Amino acid sequence: MNRRASNIFRRSGPQRSQRLVDATEGLEQARALDRAIRPISAAVRRTLRPGPVKDVLHGVPFGHPAHPPLTDVPMGCWISAAVLDLVPGTRRAAQVLVGAGLAAAVPAVLTGIADWSALHREQQRVGLVHAAGTATASMLYSASLLARHRGRDGAGRTLGFAGLTALMAGGYLGGHLAFRQAAGANHADQLAHLVPLGWHDLCQIEDLPDGWPVARSLGYISLFVLRTGEDVHVLADRCSHLAGPLHQGRVLTDDDAETCVVCPWHGSTFRVRDGSVIHGPATARQPAFETHVTNEGLIQVRPRG
Ligand code: FES
Repeated sequence: MNRRASNIFRRSGPQRSQRLVDATEGLEQARALDRAIRPISAAVRRTLRPGPVKDVLHGVPFGHPAHPPLTDVPMGCWISAAVLDLVPGTRRAAQVLVGAGLAAAVPAVLTGIADWSALHREQQRVGLVHAAGTATASMLYSASLLARHRGRDGAGRTLGFAGLTALMAGGYLGGHLAFRQAAGANHADQLAHLVPLGWHDLCQIEDLPDGWPVARSLGYISLFVLRTGEDVHVLADRCSHLAGPLHQGRVLTDDDAETCVVCPWHGSTFRVRDGSVIHGPATARQPAFETHVTNEGLIQVRPRG
């Protein structure tokens, strides 16, 4: 390769990929999408009321979002179908995989809609285009299945490859949502690495209001603190869902007479005793602290093991 050609190669690769990143970041700020997002998210919130179904769709029983692993199934089916489409004599198997991918897309779509409805607006903008990409893929695969069923295998394969292209574009945006914008990640997990082992002085119990949550700092870490009589409950203040301030949340009692806090941003509900998730969209337990009150009324805390 001569020097001019190698210079072109060195410049064009990274520049092209940076343009892709810039365009994706531009989507985060694409306010034009908000006209569609507002009514759709309002409709989803109206339809999907807080309760067990919504919690399952978010993945609360599994301890992490259900959507990402569920997307693996249609993607796996459709990628496998594309491989088989290149292999002679595998027509029937490819057709089955296209159909299986369409069936597996249903739970992936439902869980994705539930998660999307409880995201920041910048995440929802990227999420909307991600959904448009995967919806286009599903439509193309539906047409592909129909064509295959009618014996038009060439058209079925072409539509399948077009669907795979749309799927890859949608999947790229899904990666941006998960890894750049941290949608679905646990936003409170780092606390375990930030608080040294052992007991730490927090504040005097007499300085805390009774029954009303407040924020207190442990060094540079913000904590949710709730005093109920002589009991003191301490959690990480940044909600594990998207880092909302729990100390601004509502305190209530759940069906088991346990005191809980409801995050003010998207309504995740945590038991203050141990930080466990009662309702999503959060799926990760809120880091909790053991508390101890000295004879002088000083509250000491240490991370719960
Ligand atoms: S930040 Fe979303 S529920 Fe707390």
